[in-house]
Amino acid sequence: MAPPPVVAIDGPAASGKGTVAQGVAQALGLHYLDSGSLYRLVALKASREGVAANDEARLATLARLLEVEFDRHRIRLEDGDVTEELRAEPVSAAASRIAVLPSVRTALLSRQRAFRRPPGLVADGRDMGTVVFPDAILKIYLMASAEARAGRRYKQLIEKGNSVTLEGLLLDIRERDARDSARAAAPLKAAADALILDTTEMTIDASIAFVLERAKAMIAPTSG
Ligand code: DC
Repeated sequence: MAPPPVVAIDGPAASGKGTVAQGVAQALGLHYLDSGSLYRLVALKASREGVAANDEARLATLARLLEVEFDRHRIRLEDGDVTEELRAEPVSAAASRIAVLPSVRTALLSRQRAFRRPPGLVADGRDMGTVVFPDAILKIYLMASAEARAGRRYKQLIEKGNSVTLEGLLLDIRERDARDSARAAAPLKAAADALILDTTEMTIDASIAFVLERAKAMIAPTSG
């Protein structure tokens, strides 16, 4: 039997890939994997346990033993709800640092692949189409200018009552882009067979519609 189909959505920080992937998964009734949350969970657990961001062996062990539960839109780590904590800036920065470590990436591979269950999966991250699900039926590489991404994040954070500056966010995004792209292990890059979608001038709804149309065509090709 053919394995359940995967739609892979990769792209840089704050490109909107999470929102697009969730929208597509919901519209098609497919499972959803936010792979970045796994790197964030390892980072959070490491900070709780006082494990240094460069202690590759211990971090890989943490990644393998992580006790985590994904329940719709909530994420629990060892019985505590960490959904909001995972999005905090220190966790983002630490996740990006530990994501360069090959043994951590390897430890998370089977966890990510376990999300592939019938009727199918929409997965977002940096290496969904290149490494984790190279046989995805549809690969999308979502991008937007660093300025547009910083602007979107600024709006979200300000609405939530955070005090941030646009300049600071732009700097964070540029640093994370550089680290995610320059690392040797599974760097952020579009798969050779990915469709590249520049959302700088697009709304979220238009981006979801673009991916949905192609995903529907791949999952249930019309017979002519
Ligand atoms: O998508 P995100 O911002 O939640 O990801 C957090 C960090 O995890 C990001 O800086 C890079 C890393 N990551 C990765 O290396 N590979 C993935 N598939 C997903 C995230």
